[in-house]
Amino acid sequence: MLDLLVKNSNLATPQGNTPKIGATQGEISIENGMNIGIKDGKIAYIGRDMPEAAQMHDAEGCLVTPGLVDSHTHLVFGGFRQHELAAKLGGADYLDILAGGGGILSTVKATRAAGFDELYAKAGGFLDDMLAHGTTTVDAKSGYGLDVETELKQLEVVSKLQKEHKADVVSTFMGAHAIPPDYKQNPDDYVDLIINEMIPNVAEKNLAEYCDIFCEKGVFDAVQSRRVLEAAKNAGFGIKMHANEINNLGGAVLAAELGAISAEHLIASNEQDLEALAKAGTIAVLLPTTSFYLGKDFAPAKKMIESGIAVAIASDFNPGSSPNFNLQLSMTLGCLKYGLVPPQVLTAVTLNAACAIGRGESKGSIEIGKDADIIIWNCPDLDFLFYRFGNNQAKNVIKNGEVII
Ligand code: NIG
Ligand code: FE
Repeated sequence: MLDLLVKNSNLATPQGNTPKIGATQGEISIENGMNIGIKDGKIAYIGRDMPEAAQMHDAEGCLVTPGLVDSHTHLVFGGFRQHELAAKLGGADYLDILAGGGGILSTVKATRAAGFDELYAKAGGFLDDMLAHGTTTVDAKSGYGLDVETELKQLEVVSKLQKEHKADVVSTFMGAHAIPPDYKQNPDDYVDLIINEMIPNVAEKNLAEYCDIFCEKGVFDAVQSRRVLEAAKNAGFGIKMHANEINNLGGAVLAAELGAISAEHLIASNEQDLEALAKAGTIAVLLPTTSFYLGKDFAPAKKMIESGIAVAIASDFNPGSSPNFNLQLSMTLGCLKYGLVPPQVLTAVTLNAACAIGRGESKGSIEIGKDADIIIWNCPDLDFLFYRFGNNQAKNVIKNGEVII
């Protein structure tokens, strides 16, 4: 007997375990009046019959999708940066604020000063809210420590959340997020510290699955990025890269060459970048709220899909360039600013996003055998979910087969 049957679902889901590329990104299954059966936290039945179940949940003909997967967040941080709003309105540029010792570096100060319990409670609170907005799986990057102790503290927070929080969290080490002030004159020494101390420590303690780096003017150049990512690869990490966010330093081509699972941002990308990413099968993780919040261009998502790149969309939740974790907003921007249609964007925040963090086998679609992470939306159909914005449209959240909201 099933544990739970979700009946009368207007079910919209991509299908499969691998990234959807090109035309297939928009090919999803949409079927009304479906019943979804769950057993032991996994999807065990999909169809129009009513198999026996211990519990019944009526979706009342609402839209039902897989739980959203946020494949790029900076979840654990101290403080906030509301003071940067006035600076921005006064014309200050994101990278100038960072070069002046603010931006990421001001969050580094606050994160170093914060205790473990404080960071844990704060990040856990964010995850609670993300779940309430339909996000059931989250990538969490470190990178606000920039010293061995604080990077480990952030990753230990992620590790405890992995064990204790209902949301699923994937851990990404990002010690290469900025050059710490004490290394301003000799940034290569900081790269050495990452390679010789941080990566071995994180690997030995098994605190992260992926390693990411911010390849950007005034941060890490392509030579430094190659050194860090090769060391990470050799230590057994999957690799990711913040590439071409503001300036193109060759990050996307490097990510492709090194076989990164994903390259993120990619706003300042050219034809050569797209060709390299497509050839390598590197997933493009695009972050529309960051473009919106920084007043920058939007990544060429349509062109990417046409070039044969699997596109994922994520929130980039962080206290500076995207202080928002509501993926529903990113989804609407995915339509209005990238010009993608709802089925393409749904794939971008479910299956392709799951693949971007190595979870394509278990998440990202509603299919038999996958984790029962399911959202019932206050929406009659898929278009409605993308058309409304600014309000939370998640009605019920089912996580690992349990109706938690
Ligand atoms: O993805 N670009 C680097 N990292 C983040 C911003 C982090 C911050 O501003 O605190 C991003 O945009
Ligand atoms: Fe980011």
